[in-house]
Amino acid sequence: MKIIHTIPEWYDIEKTLGRGAGGQSVGFVPTMGALHKGHRSLVERSAAENSVTVASIFINPVQFNSSGDLAAYPKTFDRDVELLASAGAAYVFAPEYAELYPDGYRYRLSETVQSRTLCGASRPGHFDGVLTVVMKLLQIFRPERAYFGEKDYQQYELVSGMAQAFFLRTDIIPCPIIREDSGLACSSRNTRLSPEGLRRAPLFYRALASGRSPGEIRHELEKDGFRVDYVTETDGRLYGAVYLEDVRLIDNVKYR
Ligand code: PAJ
Repeated sequence: MKIIHTIPEWYDIEKTLGRGAGGQSVGFVPTMGALHKGHRSLVERSAAENSVTVASIFINPVQFNSSGDLAAYPKTFDRDVELLASAGAAYVFAPEYAELYPDGYRYRLSETVQSRTLCGASRPGHFDGVLTVVMKLLQIFRPERAYFGEKDYQQYELVSGMAQAFFLRTDIIPCPIIREDSGLACSSRNTRLSPEGLRRAPLFYRALASGRSPGEIRHELEKDGFRVDYVTETDGRLYGAVYLEDVRLIDNVKYR
């Protein structure tokens, strides 16, 4: 596996690949690092479905609403590289901010309806940052397929909608949520919980999966010491976002 930091490095590699009809296909997995078995599942799926898999590691500052959350985001680059290699990635793209944002984020992409709901309601600008960086990455790599986890279901739907709206030639592939044995969805943010927080966090998933009404679930989570941002049902899916020890956790389940 090769680590690259600049866009021209990729363009040189791409010339050697022989892409297009009958040639090699590229699968792409964007991440912010601090990788776990949820990310691994995306990379393995891409490696199974494409000739070449590229993963990116870039903590995208413009999608964070709080400088504290950005500063506290875990960084485990060396371990991440090992995980990506063992999962079957051929290239890791790890750019600096200036490489992806030569415009200083003057140009950005917005979705004006769905991005204002759920996580977008309490994180203004978050999805502009996500869509902008994903669009940049898809333009650079022009992958046949790009893989997104259903853990961030709203993100998956917005990226998928963007790909359609802008006629991108990349298939956006949703991948199932990977969970710990306790039911807790794997997340880079879980590592910020104390041992006691980690013991309590699975109650979030259990409440969402209980089949009770959103109102009852909110009440129960508050009783259990979670600060609830939202528990909302839309289109046959129940979405939740909570804070535990000031760490934001999100999850979703199929509902009724
Ligand atoms: P990050 O949180 O690192 O997640 C990268 C990808 O891994 C996303 O598609 C996410 O949905 C998926 N993922 C995370 N946890 C998962 C789990 N438990 N099961 C399955 N998939 C999981 O999401 C981002 O980064 C960023 O917003 C990004 C798309 C890279 C843009 O900056």
